[in-house]
Amino acid sequence: MGDKGRYYITTPIYYPSDRLHIGHAYTSTIADSIARWHRFNGKDVLFLTGSDEHGQKIERIAKARGIEPKDYVDKIVGTFKSLWEKYDITYDDFVRTTDERHRKVVQEVFQRIYDKGDIYKDTYEGWYCTPCEAFWVETKLEDGNCPDCGRPVELVKEESYFFKLSKYADGLLQHIQEHPEFIRPESRRNEMVNFIKSGLEDLCVSRTTFDWGIPVPIDENHVIYVWFDALTNYLTGAGFLQDEAAFARYWPADLHLVGKEIVRFHTIIWPIILMALDLPLPKTVFGHGWLLFGDEKMSKSKGNVVDPMELADEFGVDAIRYFLLREISFGQDGSFTRQALIDRINADLANDLGNLLHRSVAMIIRYRDGVIPLVGPLTELEEELQHLAATTVVEVGEHIDKLELNGALSAIWRLVARTNKYIDEAAPWSLNKAGNNERLDTVLYHLAETLRILALLIKSFLPTTGAKMWTQLGIATDLELCQVEDAKWGGLRPNTKVQKGEPIFPRIELDETNEADANDETPQKTKKEVQPAGGQTVVQTKTDKPLIDIDDFAKLDLRVAEIKQAEPVPGADRLLQLQIKIGTEERQIVAGIAQHYQPEALIGKHIVVVANLKPAKVRGVVSEGMLLAASTPDGLGLLTVERDIPSGAQVK
Ligand code: ME8
Ligand code: MG
Repeated sequence: MGDKGRYYITTPIYYPSDRLHIGHAYTSTIADSIARWHRFNGKDVLFLTGSDEHGQKIERIAKARGIEPKDYVDKIVGTFKSLWEKYDITYDDFVRTTDERHRKVVQEVFQRIYDKGDIYKDTYEGWYCTPCEAFWVETKLEDGNCPDCGRPVELVKEESYFFKLSKYADGLLQHIQEHPEFIRPESRRNEMVNFIKSGLEDLCVSRTTFDWGIPVPIDENHVIYVWFDALTNYLTGAGFLQDEAAFARYWPADLHLVGKEIVRFHTIIWPIILMALDLPLPKTVFGHGWLLFGDEKMSKSKGNVVDPMELADEFGVDAIRYFLLREISFGQDGSFTRQALIDRINADLANDLGNLLHRSVAMIIRYRDGVIPLVGPLTELEEELQHLAATTVVEVGEHIDKLELNGALSAIWRLVARTNKYIDEAAPWSLNKAGNNERLDTVLYHLAETLRILALLIKSFLPTTGAKMWTQLGIATDLELCQVEDAKWGGLRPNTKVQKGEPIFPRIELDETNEADANDETPQKTKKEVQPAGGQTVVQTKTDKPLIDIDDFAKLDLRVAEIKQAEPVPGADRLLQLQIKIGTEERQIVAGIAQHYQPEALIGKHIVVVANLKPAKVRGVVSEGMLLAASTPDGLGLLTVERDIPSGAQVK
């Protein structure tokens, strides 16, 4: 293997102030996917993560629980590591800021900058936000609160060491202007440029009113400011002062991936520390958006924190990884809801990818005893599929280079969709029936080979899924060792024997006790495995009603409606009385669904109603419309719309 270069990527080192939530898993999943993609491309990757263990916040939490800070963080850091194991996060190193190796680096960095004359002693008088561990001058506060998190700040007056940020402001601005890729996306770059232009105050880099931190090397009464300590982890992890060769190889970092709220620390304080040390600056700091819960920020105080462990236990890690990578436009805020997650699982994973694999393997087993056949002459269909497979490989790489994770997955799923369509177009079941064996061989090979390429492309994002696909395709080589060159067309050897397997993503079926509404507490879920549709069967639709034409259908006014209230109709145990809104219009309808839904579980649900049904009285209650539901003797399910469509929208 020639030297294809190296790639150094980092996540923030998270605070062990509590267990991590899905927002943290979001950053780490993205970093892991990028790291895996570069390894797949033959690069020597250093992927660093860790924990930010010092500071006032952690000290206070530990004290409040009556334990030593170190004992406290040890316990929480254990939960970080199990979470990363669960999420298949392949970090190469984990820096704990309480590590001895890190203490040495931080003290040396402090000492060097002090010796240079860029750190001096004075008195700090101003504000401090403990949750953000940030100093603020009075003029930057908003309504007296922290402008970043909105929480109260504390007045601090103490002797401090100061770092001359102001001295480097012009040099930093110049660097930002000359390197547009340094701060991304562009909106954050503009914010930072404005922030710097508004004037940089020298930064307090030590504290004396608590001691949970790394001592200032020249003054034991002070501990080093926690952000100075934390940012330096990126040097520690690259081998600074410990392994010259490693450091020369990996520094500067290619990508510091962070949430948007800490871009300021990473693009002002951090580069200035590096400039003071005469070290090169990282190539890119990317500040991604927040994962919101519905449309609110996730936070302990709102009680809407989603536990990534529970989620992974419930739906499987790859389903969550897929959702995080695909659903959110990288760089922007995105929203997590159970409904959106379940929709993605059912549509993209179970239906599109899962079915493609299952149908293809099933047909190879049915028609060729599981043995992948030789290819015969190609038609345009095969040429198109091969071409799309090749361009998809390139496109995924381009998207990753631009940090468009969702774009990368969309490209892969376009190939999935095209391959599903290829099955329908090539109709292997008809070829089989007609005894057109050579053509059938060609089609089956093309399915298997496209799936092999898909497995290679998918493995960086959904590692377990890639491996399961590999196993079902029966390929003997080690998937872990495969690289992007292996994604060239024709790598699959005829005579490989496929293996029947379980559906890789069972559909998530919802029932009335398991509504996927974002605000439900912890709804129950039942997973039912439905047999994916086999390519060879044609579903017969039977209707016992007369045929209608489109004008008949157009007489129906079907609308999306939102359920505002629901309550039983007294004396009628099958009926519920619903207050609904169709756009701005309020209506009441009566529905025979009381045995299938708890009234509370209906609130907020978007359903479909017949809006132009003549009003009628049902058990003495006026009903101005009718909701649509599908039912069998075993159960009933309301019709809902698959995307977040506002009420009032027409259904046609
Ligand atoms: O800030 N959506 O640690 P932290 C998306 N220790 N990402 C989220 C998120 C959300 N709702 N919530 C958290 C710190 N994150 C410092 C970092 S680095 C030298 C020191 C992710 O535990 C996102 O990456 O508060 C964010 O920047 C990070 O977790 C903050 O983690
Ligand atoms: Mg935070």
